[in-house]
Amino acid sequence: MYIHIAGKQIHYIKKADIFDSARLENLKKKGVKKLFVRNEEEENYLKYLDMCLNVLSDKNFDIKKKGEISYDALVTDAENAEKNLETEAGYAGVRNRVGKIIDYLGSDKGALKSVLTSAGIAIDDHQHSANVASLATALALRVGGISPREVGDLSLAGLVHDLGKPKMGFTGAVDMNKLTPQEKKDYRKHPERTLEILSSKKYITPLILRLVNEHEELANGKGYPERKNLGSLPLTSQILSLCNNVDNYSQAKQIPPTDAIKPYFQENADLFEPDLMSKMSDILLGK
Ligand SMILES: [Fe+2]
Ligand SMILES: [Fe+2]
Repeated sequence: MYIHIAGKQIHYIKKADIFDSARLENLKKKGVKKLFVRNEEEENYLKYLDMCLNVLSDKNFDIKKKGEISYDALVTDAENAEKNLETEAGYAGVRNRVGKIIDYLGSDKGALKSVLTSAGIAIDDHQHSANVASLATALALRVGGISPREVGDLSLAGLVHDLGKPKMGFTGAVDMNKLTPQEKKDYRKHPERTLEILSSKKYITPLILRLVNEHEELANGKGYPERKNLGSLPLTSQILSLCNNVDNYSQAKQIPPTDAIKPYFQENADLFEPDLMSKMSDILLGK
């Protein structure tokens, strides 16, 4: 296993060595947020994550640790999304892991907060996708009336919504105000680029494709690619777009999502329906 320090991957621990919780705590204290696992060990790592996710249904297990486990699994699935979605079996594996996290997020009012506290401010596209997936899932469950299948699609869409972005040369939080007119035009095509990657895979549902296409649309009609508004945006798309917007704000302002929600609403009161925004605020504050 490797850790990322000063732009390099440093070999941290050998396969046969014990990676106990004391070592892990030590790394966390030093601010290490990511571990690197070699390609050939990835299957083992995924099995390990699957095993860890089973504790999410254990009522006596520490909620803080559940949040960390959920978040790590989401980031790993965001990192591996393109590769996993190459095959139907890979897709089924992601859905299965995400399903366990959905059950956890629906089981406890403090669950989302535990995931986001573990997350903090996203440092890259994968962490952003994990944040958006967990936010969108929790919000969909809170809003109610959305079928389990649709909640699963929302989580998946959260994980993959920006897949096309790095392929166009845009990584991390993008400040539109700093882009040239041509770069802005290009950037606005990233939902379409993501659709190109996903649409050839027949097991990706039509709802996931629609959610990806509409994740940058805003209820005030100022989003893209089609400048849709509240009347033409289905509720599930509003949920994904709001969650994407809140996490982008958190990254741009360098404020963790749980703290960003108050100033975000003060500055963006007209972006989405008040009821949806207040539900978003409640789940972020653990209410
Ligand atoms: Fe995006
Ligand atoms: Fe995004």
